[in-house]
Amino acid sequence: MRTPREAPCLTVELASVRLKNPLMNAAGILGLTAYSLKRLADAGLGAVVTKSYGLKPRAGHANPTIVQVEGGLLNSMGLPNPGVEAAASELKEAVAMTDTPIVASIFGFKPEDFEVVAKRLDSLKVAAFEVNVSCPHVKEVGVEIGQKKEALAEVVKQVRRATKKPIIVKLSPNVAQITEMAKAAQDSGAEAVTAINTLKAMAIDIETGAPILAGVFGGLSGPAIKPIAVRCVYELFKEIQIPIIGCGGISNWEDAVEFMMAGASFLQVGTAVMFKDLAVFGEILHGLRDYLKKKGLRSVEELVGRAH
Ligand SMILES: Cc1cc2nc3c(=O)[nH]c(=O)nc-3n(C[C@H](O)[C@H](O)[C@H](O)COP(=O)(O)O)c2cc1C
Repeated sequence: MRTPREAPCLTVELASVRLKNPLMNAAGILGLTAYSLKRLADAGLGAVVTKSYGLKPRAGHANPTIVQVEGGLLNSMGLPNPGVEAAASELKEAVAMTDTPIVASIFGFKPEDFEVVAKRLDSLKVAAFEVNVSCPHVKEVGVEIGQKKEALAEVVKQVRRATKKPIIVKLSPNVAQITEMAKAAQDSGAEAVTAINTLKAMAIDIETGAPILAGVFGGLSGPAIKPIAVRCVYELFKEIQIPIIGCGGISNWEDAVEFMMAGASFLQVGTAVMFKDLAVFGEILHGLRDYLKKKGLRSVEELVGRAH
């Protein structure tokens, strides 16, 4: 029998997928190629998430696409990706290079696109799909689906036609009621939600008077959005029964604990990787383990929802 003195257990299960710990990278932070997925896996993550892949290759927006602002980053990358065919060959290579479960992030311009992309990737050994319906800076995709319950539900149904694997819906904070969107995801058969994607934002160069990002609007990420993300996770925990992947401004183990107490069963880290490199993952896992030990907790799961 385990005693509190033993090393605390970080193992968790995402639907039927067993993860050695609850930590993942956030979509779009590395994860475009087999090599970068392997680098993420080697950093000790429980699962790794790909860049969002769509049906056709996309160059993304013109530069500048990223600007540093107080408390984080504004990005308007515009979902650059090589398209599903090139993605499939990267993923085929990636699954051969690592045992760490790989979550394929996918997006589309219409619900049918999601089905085609999921179907193409389903035969590869990806562990789950994360459906990106929450990108705030590309017209007609992302948040324009994620702000409408019916459209979101339709996307989940289409993806379900392509796969039996777990479907995770990545939610947008750019809505009046995030809980309504999460319920739509749950009711249409999603196994989990990720909260949150970036917040629609902008910055202006006061010398030229012009918006800094070529795409005008971008998504705000990093520590600046953390309290909003924690609030979203807290609200979701009370309203839905499927697990929540917390994301938004997590930079250290204290943030990780806070998200779990709000109700997150899993965690994703994005911007902090750009500021601290891959070392941030080891720091978070180490800190989590020490915290559990100090508090006499046996499993990381005991933290989930403690703030309620
Ligand atoms: C440069 C950059 C690229 C991103 N690309 C994607 C993407 O392809 N798909 C997606 O779902 N989210 C994308 N995101 C959003 C992140 O996955 C995450 O939801 C958001 O940045 C909040 O987490 P963070 O504060 O830890 O970065 C991107 C974020 C950044 C900063």
